[in-house]
Amino acid sequence: MKNLWRVLPFSFILLFLAGCGKQNLTALDPRGPVAEMQHNLIGLSLLIMVFVIVVVAAIFIYVLVRFREKPGDNHIPEQVEGNKNLEIIWTAIPIVLLIILAIPNVMDTFTLADTEVTDDTVVVNVTAHQYWWEFEYPDLEITTGQDLYIPTDTRIVFNLEASDVIHSFWIPALAGKQDTVPGITNDMWIEAPEEGVYLGKCAELCGEGHWLMDFKVIAVDPDTFDEWAQGMAEPDSELIEPTGEVAAEGREVFEQNCLACHAVGGEGGNPQGGPDLTNFGERENIAGFMDHNDENLEAWIRDPEAEKPGSGVGMPGFDNLEDDEMDSLIDYLNSLKVLDDE
Ligand code: CUA
Repeated sequence: MKNLWRVLPFSFILLFLAGCGKQNLTALDPRGPVAEMQHNLIGLSLLIMVFVIVVVAAIFIYVLVRFREKPGDNHIPEQVEGNKNLEIIWTAIPIVLLIILAIPNVMDTFTLADTEVTDDTVVVNVTAHQYWWEFEYPDLEITTGQDLYIPTDTRIVFNLEASDVIHSFWIPALAGKQDTVPGITNDMWIEAPEEGVYLGKCAELCGEGHWLMDFKVIAVDPDTFDEWAQGMAEPDSELIEPTGEVAAEGREVFEQNCLACHAVGGEGGNPQGGPDLTNFGERENIAGFMDHNDENLEAWIRDPEAEKPGSGVGMPGFDNLEDDEMDSLIDYLNSLKVLDDE
């Protein structure tokens, strides 16, 4: 029973993890080869652990019942010292179990550590910032933030870095966590066979805004990915010189207030600045976590610190904007798209 009480808390954690179904934020429903491998290893380890616990608990209970002191029986059992057979059994069984555990673990570790880049690989340099994610595609000469577009059925290799403190890059449905450490480049790979949006999270306490340091992995078919990459690399002139009246006004407001930190279409921004906004109009969320609508966007621009604690260090609030300036700015930001509307 003692052992049962030891595992109970872990069962609750497992139940809790299984409940994190929001936008596939669970490692228990793998959607790619990497996550599958890791999921199978967890499954195998769990199986072996449960087997050990059940066997030990069964023997424990049997011994308790079978050899307990009975009323009126005061004879002392035969005293034994050492038992070669038992010694061999309880040394051999753990060794066998460890070998069963070690073989797939070592094999998968080598597979997971193999981040060799071939012609078909898409390389993404990930930089974690307090509290957002930057994605640079060196071969495609694209930089973006928050929404990580990848082609399906393609090997993606990440080089992971951090600009400030330690963060952790985690896409539960596609792969386990990997730390991003300032001054060190870690790498990992993933593959997504199915199209879809996979939620990513920072998994290392990195400051006030850590809990909202979300991102999306958007897996699209290779053709759509090429279209996206093309649109990002050579954006439509509308993004930079909008012809619509309101958006043109918005662009002006943007140039005066935002362009120093946020690039659009390769213009503006700076290495210490905020996310590239070239395809901002297509983002499902604002700041990685708020629903993308005009009210939230205005609230975010006026006072980011109130929405995501700690973000005010990187982005000041723009509560000085007049309502009509704000409206045209929002109109402009929402027009920033690189994919054809489906
Ligand atoms: Cu970045 Cu937690």
